[in-house]
Amino acid sequence: MFVFKAAVVGAGTMGGEIAQVVASAGIPVVLKDVKQEFVDTGLEKARQVTEAQLGNLVKKEKITQEDADSQRDEIVERITGTTGYEAFGDVDFVVEAVPERMEIKQAVFSELDEVTPGHAILASNTSSLSITEMAEATLRPDKVCGFHFFYPASMMRLIEVIEGDDTSDETLQTASNFAQALRKTAVRCGEVPGFVVNRVLTSAMSEVWRVTEAEDLDVKDVDKAIQESGTVPMGPYYLTDLLGLDTVFHVAEHLHDSYGDRFYVSKRMRELVEAKNLGQKTGKGFYEHG
Ligand SMILES: NC(=O)c1ccc[n+]([C@@H]2O[C@H](COP(=O)([O-])OP(=O)(O)OC[C@H]3O[C@@H](n4cnc5c(N)ncnc54)[C@H](O)[C@@H]3O)[C@@H](O)[C@H]2O)c1
Repeated sequence: MFVFKAAVVGAGTMGGEIAQVVASAGIPVVLKDVKQEFVDTGLEKARQVTEAQLGNLVKKEKITQEDADSQRDEIVERITGTTGYEAFGDVDFVVEAVPERMEIKQAVFSELDEVTPGHAILASNTSSLSITEMAEATLRPDKVCGFHFFYPASMMRLIEVIEGDDTSDETLQTASNFAQALRKTAVRCGEVPGFVVNRVLTSAMSEVWRVTEAEDLDVKDVDKAIQESGTVPMGPYYLTDLLGLDTVFHVAEHLHDSYGDRFYVSKRMRELVEAKNLGQKTGKGFYEHG
């Protein structure tokens, strides 16, 4: 199946950029959130990313500024922002990018099952949760799969395509083809908590969180030491601020529940999440953001 029109549900840290990736590949996309202000933030993010990407091409003298301006307008105009489901009647592929909570995801999948055509594939950008459980909220579990982008979606090339218990081979093939149309590299993963990347990444982060708290270290010193080692572009606490503390925290909790004490749930992160200091998206997390 070819994807002629797509949709993204949730215009937060991931959704705006995912819509931008789809629109940049020439495919019209609907971007939905629950409030117009969230939709507008997602659209603005998509516009900024597009402008930055095209600006780089101008700097490298691969295109003119005039070309960049017209391409930017074309890409941005392919994204339709909305708070309703009116434009979902003819979509072929939906990427759900709402918060990492099963009850929210199941509610969205149940709604998507009602409003999209029967052939449409319903995919989740979940970092760790069960695709099979999300599929149970629909009457088309064979057409539900994971489609996991990485932050920032406009730059990171990998997409994990995740197979739930009832996902059909045709769905997995269409999802892999769609990833390729988006100029991404798809890897097929089995349905285990955290899949591949977050199982590895959260395991490493767990050790950092555990030692920081056991030794009562300053998170900024920890970040500085790790960044200066030259192995990663930024320290893990700053990265967590960019990813969103609630998302990272819920993934850690889920992996701890699934695999036990080898995954650590940070007490400092729990306090910040409870105080609604979620990192860059709320202006404060481990760091203050302008
Ligand atoms: N943040 C990351 O780095 C990252 C990376 C890969 C995958 N993910 C996954 O992507 C998903 C979204 O994460 P995020 O960081 O973008 O979250 P976020 O909190 O930044 O954004 C979620 C958005 O969903 C919206 N929303 C909530 N309920 C909704 C509903 N019923 N309908 C439409 N919109 C709704 C919220 O208003 C918000 O704008 C999660 O499953 C997360 O695990 C996140």
